[in-house]
Amino acid sequence: MQFETLPGFREFYPEACARRNHIFAQWRKVARAFSFSEYDAPVLEPLELYIEKSGEEIVGQLFNFEDRGGRAVAMRPEMTPSLARLVGAKANGLKRPIKWFNIGEHYRYERPQKGRLRAFYQYNVDIFGEAGPAADAELIALLVQALEAFGLGSADFKVRLSDRDLWLLMLAAEGLDEASSAVVLGIVDKLERMDREKAVEKLQPVLGEDASAFLGRIEEVIAIRDFDTLSVYMKGLALEGDIADQIATRLNDWELLLNRLKAAGAGEYVQIDLGIVRGLAYYTGFVFEAFEASGAGRALAGGGRYDALVKKLGGPDMPAVGFAMGDVTLADLLDSKGLTTNYVQSPDFIVIIGGAEAREAAMGDAATIRSLGYSVDYPLKEQSFGKQFKEANQKGARFALIYGSEEIEKGVFKARDFASGTEKEFPREAIAEVIPELMLSGLE
Ligand code: HAM
Repeated sequence: MQFETLPGFREFYPEACARRNHIFAQWRKVARAFSFSEYDAPVLEPLELYIEKSGEEIVGQLFNFEDRGGRAVAMRPEMTPSLARLVGAKANGLKRPIKWFNIGEHYRYERPQKGRLRAFYQYNVDIFGEAGPAADAELIALLVQALEAFGLGSADFKVRLSDRDLWLLMLAAEGLDEASSAVVLGIVDKLERMDREKAVEKLQPVLGEDASAFLGRIEEVIAIRDFDTLSVYMKGLALEGDIADQIATRLNDWELLLNRLKAAGAGEYVQIDLGIVRGLAYYTGFVFEAFEASGAGRALAGGGRYDALVKKLGGPDMPAVGFAMGDVTLADLLDSKGLTTNYVQSPDFIVIIGGAEAREAAMGDAATIRSLGYSVDYPLKEQSFGKQFKEANQKGARFALIYGSEEIEKGVFKARDFASGTEKEFPREAIAEVIPELMLSGLE
């Protein structure tokens, strides 16, 4: 009987694994460039951690079960609740702003489809302890650079920027309370995939007669793409009073955020799009999602501010903002843009061994080269020279090191540079000096 993988789970044969690790390496490099520290957390967590904190959609997709001790547990569908707990528990001892990142696998029982699997990797990057939009800007700039690191440019992807704060102010100006606003935002989140009639029907319990006209105003807001239009629209909602003041303050935050993004070189990537509200329960301010430039397909990344979550999980009051990028949609985009390179890793050296008598010397030298940090391969069984050279070529090694009986007798080895075809003999006793030199300059 042959077993198959579960739906939505992947196996990583070496080439796929090398490609995955290439993605991780770029992610790590960019996090390091922005001076973030790597952390990790358990993949299995108490179910309770996700109920309410993550929101309905994710809770409906949990891989959860009862463990042998009768505990209700779940495979992590996302990192944010675990991270908020980690930071909350040590908050007083941590230097702020806390800038942390993680690369890890996450699990959601979704219907497997293009860009969506049941096990996928996420690059989570978050800042804690900074309430102002400078932190949001820093993260969006990092997100942009993390995609640029793969060779993607502003013709390839965009970051859509929105603001739950501004939405709530807008809805308050319309006379909606918090509960009704939450219902409306839930509908806005799904508007792109919903026809108009259905949306009006869903709005009716909250807005009654006004539902259709109200949806018209929502559509107008969602169509706004530049800050000036947004500013004029928002200021027109409330001309005086508390809400007018709050709107003015919030628009200042927007200006600061947009200016910072421009200064960080991310300006051309950012598109205002109030149609993004994010489905997760904990977001409180700016929210954003990265998409392929045409807008097609699933999001590459998503995130935003979640200032209340650390406290909700038992920690102190602590502002937070972050995002996660997935590996699945990213790899699809790189494929479609022809940005996937050859990930097969070739050894630096292949040692060609001329019979059992030469093996001891050859293996001893191979061990020396390995301890210098270079990659070396040799045949495990005795083979003809012809076969060994053929394999060295197939494996794409840069050099062959030849140990025939003649070489052993003279105390030398022969190096062949496959790029130039040149061969040269070197004394074996000088191997530790010769090898780094070969790697640096090759043989002319
Ligand atoms: P999210 O929008 O649920 O946010 O997921 C972020 C990214 O993870 C998505 O844009 C997508 O690339 C990837 N992703 C999610 N589900 C799947 C799936 N089933 N298959 C493949 N890829 C998937 C969060 O998870 C938030 N916790 C992000 C965050 C961090 N917010 C603040 N800090």
